[in-house]
Amino acid sequence: MKTKVAVIGAGNVGASAALFLAERGMADVTLIDIVEGMPQGKALDMQQAAPLWHKGGRIEGANDLAAVKGSDVIVMTAGFARKPGMSRTDLLKANADIVRPAAEAVKQHAPNATVVVVTNPLDAMAHLFWKVSGFPKHRVLGMAGILDSARMRAFIAMELGVSGADVDAMVLGGHGDSMVPLPRFTTVSGIAIAELLPADRIAAIAERTRGGGAEIVKLLKTGSAYYAPAMSAVEMVEAILTDQKRLVPCSVLLEGEYGMKDIFIGVPIVLGAKGVEKIITLKLSSDELAALQKSGKDVADAIAELGVAV
Ligand code: NAI
Ligand code: 2OP
Repeated sequence: MKTKVAVIGAGNVGASAALFLAERGMADVTLIDIVEGMPQGKALDMQQAAPLWHKGGRIEGANDLAAVKGSDVIVMTAGFARKPGMSRTDLLKANADIVRPAAEAVKQHAPNATVVVVTNPLDAMAHLFWKVSGFPKHRVLGMAGILDSARMRAFIAMELGVSGADVDAMVLGGHGDSMVPLPRFTTVSGIAIAELLPADRIAAIAERTRGGGAEIVKLLKTGSAYYAPAMSAVEMVEAILTDQKRLVPCSVLLEGEYGMKDIFIGVPIVLGAKGVEKIITLKLSSDELAALQKSGKDVADAIAELGVAV
């Protein structure tokens, strides 16, 4: 197969993303991790599963970042999840030390790739990757909005007892406590959510969405969510590889849109072969815009802490 996707980080999110990608048969997959033997072992296991899902394609493991060579898309998942006692700043600095060399390797060995960053804190790490790689802004995106919106869709589907496939939701902003679920742009088969649920239930679902990641951390105790995050990243990879022109929220560099500039933050975009093909500027209410800009301020503070401003 000609198309290649490299997944950097073969932990929970990375290995799940590699599995979903391989199962969809869209591309050859290279799984990269610093732990010796681990990405090779997981890749071989997946390669042995491939005949059972009747798809071709090669799945390889590697320890050297140079294995990104020739990739069309890179999924960056290497990094720590926040542990008890670890401040946001500790996480920011620890993961920046992992993202920087990865971005340099991608710049050197896969200069034409489009990059989907997953590593947290998401918006700051996408910004750092973009800055270090020197890639054009349309080829570096952060994954969070699709995940946060999928969580909101799932909670609405659970509440109404309907299929999540019929629920559309839009969550914007940074991937953190100040993310902005937008009930006004949330529908079930075209029916506005306000027609189906009372305001207090919608507010409760928005709040649960904001804490969606933390809820899973509390249950798992030893790590964070990975199935829905991996699937969300794979949705982005598929949209890029097959030029789907999906209208989805992703973390991208703003240059004046929504009154913000020089930060990565989640906004609706058109996602296709070129990566970010268009940023959609919604007419937000003053409250919605204020919430988005407040979230932008949180992301800007993190970026300033890293010292990677544009
Ligand atoms: P994990 O701990 O299961 O896997 C991380 C992997 O990165 C480990 O296998 C580790 O060996 C590897 N790694 C560390 N340094 C590396 C390096 N320099 N080069 C290559 N590999 C390296 O963690 P998990 O659950 O897979 O999460 C990964 C990251 O994704 C975390 O930062 C987490 O917070 C973030 N995340 C972000 C989400 C989002 O919505 N953007 C959702 C879920 C997780
Ligand atoms: C999540 O939202 C931890 O960012 C990760 O599950």
